[in-house]
Amino acid sequence: MHKKSCVILGCTGTVGQRLIEALYPHPWFDIVDIAASKRSADQKYKDRMRDSWYLSSNIPEEISEMVIKPMDPNAVEQADLAFSALPSGVAKEVEPQFAKAGYVITSNASAFRMVEDVPLMIPEINADHLQLIEIQKEKRNWSGAICTDPNCTTIGLAMVFKPINDRFGIEQAIMNTWQAISGAGLPGVPGLLITDNVIPYIGGEEEKVISEVQKILGKFENDHIKKADFKMAATCTRVPSVDGHFETAYIKTKEPVDIDEVKKVIREFPGLDSLGLPYAPKDPLIVREETNRPQPRLDRMAGSVPGMAVSVGRIRQGLDEKSINLCLISHNTIRGAAGAVILNAELMCVKNYV
Ligand SMILES: NC(=O)c1ccc[n+]([C@@H]2O[C@H](COP(=O)([O-])OP(=O)(O)OC[C@H]3O[C@@H](n4cnc5c(N)ncnc54)[C@H](OP(=O)(O)O)[C@@H]3O)[C@@H](O)[C@H]2O)c1
Repeated sequence: MHKKSCVILGCTGTVGQRLIEALYPHPWFDIVDIAASKRSADQKYKDRMRDSWYLSSNIPEEISEMVIKPMDPNAVEQADLAFSALPSGVAKEVEPQFAKAGYVITSNASAFRMVEDVPLMIPEINADHLQLIEIQKEKRNWSGAICTDPNCTTIGLAMVFKPINDRFGIEQAIMNTWQAISGAGLPGVPGLLITDNVIPYIGGEEEKVISEVQKILGKFENDHIKKADFKMAATCTRVPSVDGHFETAYIKTKEPVDIDEVKKVIREFPGLDSLGLPYAPKDPLIVREETNRPQPRLDRMAGSVPGMAVSVGRIRQGLDEKSINLCLISHNTIRGAAGAVILNAELMCVKNYV
């Protein structure tokens, strides 16, 4: 495949930085332009990022010399793809402008996730939802398109729920999170408020997890997604880890469960080996048997593509034979954001949507 050109919208944020780190060496994509707000526009990337680059890798030399463009399709180089790491309110205005101008947008923002004609995609689960793109393009008369990834809290959970739902049927689920500070973006939660502390509320997060899981696990029927319909409750909190969201789930099933079989279906959840996508981990779900795993520091970079696998542990019976208790960890800015939109872009390339 010849390389596809791409631009990064929101290049200065926590997800934008991960996108630069991952896309610069990517064998399929070429970064031809980068854009951010008026506050950053017209500055060289290295100057703007002098005090804001938070990754341990260096800014790639070529990118560090690029001048940041304002968020306008007329100011940004034309490209096959636009990777969006914009705040939701900005994405709502800007992404349709880029889609109209012919870019295929692979977005981290929540603005269009629940819109009926927009795929909310995890390629290992619902690649068939990409069929919505044809409907979207026709309805909106766009030459480009918008495809979204789920919230960083939703992705790991939906990946673990998928094999459990397919085998045992989920009746209802209760989940809790301990979410990393990088999930709040830059400048994020002030150090004085998060150090030595737990913030017991993340605005909008619980509602997003619940609604997004239902859409992702839903079925494409004719021209729309019929959502999954199990009941869910969520409590989302912020803790002072840097990267990696830790989550627990209590799942009531329709069928009785055998815990060894639960582990087996999770372990055997298939990757996308046959498609040859560079960002698809060989085993998307990793089962840990140790009682003290998974942990954010030890397991967030798990997987044959580091940070793209979700680690699941403490899988055990709940209160009765139709219930499961477990915990999981997924990297919020890789599997939960930059890596997710890159994997979506790769899938769209091999399926000829780009
Ligand atoms: N962090 C995570 O773990 C995570 C995970 C999944 C999804 N997401 C989603 O991904 C998106 C980006 O998250 P983030 O954490 O990277 O946010 P962030 O650190 O706040 O970065 C936001 C980016 O958008 C740009 N921007 C802000 N206001 C703008 C405006 N009015 N016009 C044009 N550009 C503007 C910023 O540029 P300036 O620097 O110039 O302001 C920056 O590049 C959000 O929608 C978020 O919900 C984040």
